[in-house]
Amino acid sequence: MNVDGSLKEYFEHALSSLMKNYETESSLSDAMRYALESGGKRIRPLLLLSILKALDSVSLDRGLRTAMALEFIHTYSLIHDDLPAMDDDAVRRGRASSHVKFGEALAILSGDALLTEAFGLIADDPKLPATVRLDLIADLSRASGAFGMVEGQALDIEGENRALTLNQLQDIHSRKTGALFLFAGRAAGMIANADSKVRENLEVFAQFFGLAFQIHNDLKNRLQIGQEDQARFQSDIEHHKATYPAILGLEAAVDELYQVLDSAQASLNQLKQSSQDPRSLDQISVWIDQLRIKL
Ligand code: IPE
Ligand code: IPE
Ligand code: MG
Ligand code: MG
Repeated sequence: MNVDGSLKEYFEHALSSLMKNYETESSLSDAMRYALESGGKRIRPLLLLSILKALDSVSLDRGLRTAMALEFIHTYSLIHDDLPAMDDDAVRRGRASSHVKFGEALAILSGDALLTEAFGLIADDPKLPATVRLDLIADLSRASGAFGMVEGQALDIEGENRALTLNQLQDIHSRKTGALFLFAGRAAGMIANADSKVRENLEVFAQFFGLAFQIHNDLKNRLQIGQEDQARFQSDIEHHKATYPAILGLEAAVDELYQVLDSAQASLNQLKQSSQDPRSLDQISVWIDQLRIKL
């Protein structure tokens, strides 16, 4: 999946400047940087920034810290997801997973640090009024906490070796992955002070896109797409994970992916109609098409 060059550069530059200020006495900051700067696609922060640009092209820098906070939370979730007690994956993005590189204790702690710092990043944002910061913090807490992403991860682990219905699996995917995508959409609406109709559109779009992203991830692992992930391909099968291809079979899982992507595109089209700068959303249509796996 390719991302818009200039927006990605803008984000990467801001993130690496921020990380220069993270120098701990222990190796904690090395572990944080290792996980943050290892070639992630940055899809969640770029989604937030693209939508913000479409809604209000002058206020892009007002979304930067929130976008970084979102990437902090995503990165922490991956560090913990790979731990031996969870998915037990030794390789991530073609490199040693954090616990392999730094040991389990430091990997866990670097995840804890990223999670906690994320909220501080928004709380201290000089570009946003206090009321908006508070709303963002509350929303990010809901998206990532005990009823959002972490609950999705808990249900995913408890779903191993169990026969789940498609509805149960969809709920897990919507939480473990969808919730952070939903936050990206909602946060853009809050920062741009969008009207309620636009916010509704944004939520519908972000929910479809987040669900599609995880169905695609299931299929990518099952079909062994992506050179860098060779070591991870067996992981879902070995752990008897509930996934879309495991429950529906390959063809029906791909059909479902296409349906969810079509719904995401339809809601994105609605959003374009109320955007100041609809071309900023073109990149998202490109991502949608890149998720269309062909059997
Ligand atoms: C991987 O997310 C885990 C999922 C929730 C599907 P990404 O595919 O966004 O991971 P990176 O950050 O780009 O490696
Ligand atoms: C990751 O889901 C979801 C979170 C980390 C919240 P997966 O376990 O399915 O993703 P990969 O395949 O390890 O990237
Ligand atoms: Mg997992
Ligand atoms: Mg995993």
